[in-house]
Amino acid sequence: MQSVLILHSLIRWAILIFGLLAVITSIGGVLKKRAYSSADNKISLFFMIFCDLQLLMGIILLYSNGWFAKMKTMGEVMKNSYDRFFIVEHGFMMILAWILVHVGRTAVKKAAPESKHKKTLIFFGIAILLILISIPWSFKGGAIARPDFPRF
Ligand code: HEM
Repeated sequence: MQSVLILHSLIRWAILIFGLLAVITSIGGVLKKRAYSSADNKISLFFMIFCDLQLLMGIILLYSNGWFAKMKTMGEVMKNSYDRFFIVEHGFMMILAWILVHVGRTAVKKAAPESKHKKTLIFFGIAILLILISIPWSFKGGAIARPDFPRF
């Protein structure tokens, strides 16, 4: 489904902007001992919402582009680096990142005011690293590489 793939590709940028913003502002918060603000909460909320949308579109793509059908023969998938990347590496790592974002937001909500920035930094920092290494960037080369900006 081309329209969903284009949206999935574009939303990566929203995720990266809000995720990196959350990490950078939390580093500042930890270093300057700044109080956790409603703006911090909004950045983290947008990061989570875009991750949720991305998961939903990822599941649609797995279904509509025949990836779920390929999963019936996982032995074959593991032998093919292209299929293995999108099904196992991309799919699995992104779901792991999505879990970290959700667990992280709950942990930040429950945390004492003075440790909210630290929790944001740990959970979102790991999530954004997983996301960065699992994107099929154009510079990855080979069949896995996809355009960094979708072509309409
Ligand atoms: C933070 C999360 C994610 C980011 C930043 C991301 C990013 C991307 C990008 C940039 C592409 C290539 C788009 C293109 O070809 O133009 C892609 C493809 C794909 N993604 Fe994700 N993704 C994320 C999460 C997920 C999740 C959670 C799933 C599955 C549950 C998923 C499934 C897929 C699939 C199946 C494709 C290949 C679609 C195809 O060409 O048939 N993605 N993703």
